[in-house]
Amino acid sequence: MIYKIRTYGDPVLRTENNLVENIDDEVREILNDLVETMRDISGIGLAAPQVGINLRMFVVEAEEGVVRKVINPEFLEYSSKKVDHEEGCLSVPGIHKKVKRPESLKVRYFNENGETVEEELDDLWARAFQHEYDHLEGVLFIDKIAPVAKRLVKKRLLNMKKETLKNL
Ligand code: CO
Repeated sequence: MIYKIRTYGDPVLRTENNLVENIDDEVREILNDLVETMRDISGIGLAAPQVGINLRMFVVEAEEGVVRKVINPEFLEYSSKKVDHEEGCLSVPGIHKKVKRPESLKVRYFNENGETVEEELDDLWARAFQHEYDHLEGVLFIDKIAPVAKRLVKKRLLNMKKETLKNL
């Protein structure tokens, strides 16, 4: 099933997300539908709140054909080295700006089978993981861009918000 993507201005993107308590068929179906939706719009990551589901889970496909289904993620370590890289977001269409983030990190989460996964991620995997994690905290990449970049997109964001609220 392809979900409708919620866009900037939709309160569901800023709502608290609950821990997934049971990793059951319902959760696995949502994760599969998140993957289907992400691929349908050629994204590399999609978090549950972006489709109106306020649960702490997301999917990432930073390399074609390699999907991580992530439930209740935590960060264990960050690299001190940070890198600046352009980001976009399916919920903020048309806007791409640089965001500074740790280059690599160690994470822990549950996979769709309820197994604990601990792994080190770098490059695009690290970036996408952090971007999707932010969605679980109600944070969007545009909250993290430089003030001067933010000023440049302020009007577009305002219009996007109006459009979103009109169509809710
Ligand atoms: Co996003």
